[in-house]
Amino acid sequence: MEATLTVSSHFSAAHRLALPELSQAENDQIYGKCARIHGHGHNYHLEVSVSGEMDSRTGMIVDLVALQQAIADRVLEPFDHTFLNKDIPYFAEVVPTAENIALYIVERLREPIQSLGVELEKVKLIESPNNACEIYCRQPAVRMNLPVLPQAAMA
Ligand code: NI
Repeated sequence: MEATLTVSSHFSAAHRLALPELSQAENDQIYGKCARIHGHGHNYHLEVSVSGEMDSRTGMIVDLVALQQAIADRVLEPFDHTFLNKDIPYFAEVVPTAENIALYIVERLREPIQSLGVELEKVKLIESPNNACEIYCRQPAVRMNLPVLPQAAMA
């Protein structure tokens, strides 16, 4: 019997949305207030869903503490209380929209979660009461369209 388990967590971070090759006026047009020069913060809520076979003895699909620890190690600790554009090398090159942050979280979590014996099913990043991004990780397109960046940027 397969089941899907979702764990929730949160982190606070700042970002600025702007393409470096564009003028401020052009970035204002695309990103609105989110392009303001000194950035702004969000309390991000993160929901990570994993799927796997239920263990008939424990009644669980995964070690919950180990799953929470992987999310803390790979996402919460490195992201919390940062300015994403400046503190995470990946976002020096990729605009940290909710979509791009969610995709990066998928990339960071996929292998550690596989090593716990389950599959990353979905990442939902809730940026504000007004918007959230969901990535369905088992779709082939998600596997193929991840941005290709130097390994150093993914570390
Ligand atoms: Ni924002």
